[in-house]
Amino acid sequence: MKLSKGQILDLDVTSLAYGGLGVSHYNDITIFVKGGLPGDKLKAKIYKKKKNYLEAYSLEKIEKSEYYTNPQCEHYGICGGCSLQDLNYNEQLNQKYVQVKDLFHRIGKFSSIPINNIIGCEQHYGYRNKMEFSYSSNKWIVDLNEKNEEIDSTAFGLHVKSRFDKIVDVNDCHINGKLSNKIFQFLKKNLYKYNIIPFDIKKRTGFLRNVIIRQGHATNQILINFIITESNNSCLIPIAKSLVSEFDEIKSVLSSTVKRNSGSSFSDEEKILWGEDYITEKIDQNIYKISSNSFFQTNSKQAKVLYDLISQIANFKGNEIVYDLYCGTGSIGLHIAKYVKMVYGIEIVMSAVIDAIENAKNNKVDNIHFFHGDLINVFNSSEELKLIPKPDIIILDPPRAGM
Ligand SMILES: C[S@@+](CC[C@H](N)C(=O)[O-])C[C@H]1O[C@@H](n2cnc3c(N)ncnc32)[C@H](O)[C@@H]1O
Repeated sequence: MKLSKGQILDLDVTSLAYGGLGVSHYNDITIFVKGGLPGDKLKAKIYKKKKNYLEAYSLEKIEKSEYYTNPQCEHYGICGGCSLQDLNYNEQLNQKYVQVKDLFHRIGKFSSIPINNIIGCEQHYGYRNKMEFSYSSNKWIVDLNEKNEEIDSTAFGLHVKSRFDKIVDVNDCHINGKLSNKIFQFLKKNLYKYNIIPFDIKKRTGFLRNVIIRQGHATNQILINFIITESNNSCLIPIAKSLVSEFDEIKSVLSSTVKRNSGSSFSDEEKILWGEDYITEKIDQNIYKISSNSFFQTNSKQAKVLYDLISQIANFKGNEIVYDLYCGTGSIGLHIAKYVKMVYGIEIVMSAVIDAIENAKNNKVDNIHFFHGDLINVFNSSEELKLIPKPDIIILDPPRAGM
């Protein structure tokens, strides 16, 4: 049977594809279903036709998956901040296992590599130590009646799923840490009061684009970074003062200027509005300095589980040379240094390398060296790296886009 765009089908969703779409099969054709969970029977409408597969979105659930669970967040489904809150956590882990296995065994053709079970995190909500909220005049209008009225179009929150141009006005973010959520809510009340002009994503006008809130979960320290479009940050001084008088935990308030047409909040024009330009986080015995631009695992508690697992799998004997590639602030290398002879960490972001060197000093780890460079060519271009010994073990933790 020939299927076409706009057609409505009854489908059984059997699994989740990479990226979170439900997978179903109709005769021999694979159909990816937006909003479909494994175990769902649903009516879905085809909206895209490709050579080898179709894409559809769920119109109505005929029978809800046995793995369905109530999402905690009132914005779930529209907000792009998280996904799969409506899928029971054990089933999320199971689906992740299926995907990793598929990637290695079927797609990568590494069929002899054993795939271990996914290790879940005890804390399913409130675990994130970093969030980047948008302050925007492009609010997502939830109630269509609102459209006819003279309404305030300012939003402080997160992007609508798959929309660069619309922001959900978030009331409470459940994956964000508790303390940083309180700060988010304080900002929500006060940004308006202090007349801070929101950014218009479409017209590329306005002053404040984003607010990054970082929280050391073990240290309870907070860093706030206002991402602005101008060099002059003086209008942020009153709100910075009121933030630090309200929250003792704030150790750093910064502003970072990015160009109006830039697609990211990365900046090399960072200014301190109050305190230091970093916070610290503790994982196991080590204290880590984290600057605004440096990568740090976003789930601090689970980072320890991950780092311990690396030591367990590597089964170090004490005489190994280890490369920690894509090392960020050096946290993996510093965690495992006590078990090996020497660690060499390599990272592209200079501020992260500086943090890593300082972290080694502060934690009195002296068998580790960090290098700044792009792993695409640094082993050919750096004279220093040509002199270091060959590795016995390489630990790789590349960015999401891959190597
Ligand atoms: C997933 S993070 C891992 C950080 C670290 N291993 C940790 O556990 O905190 C990936 C890191 O790779 C760095 N990176 C991205 N592209 C790179 C490249 N081409 N060369 C070197 N480092 C890179 C990023 O700046 C980031 O710090």
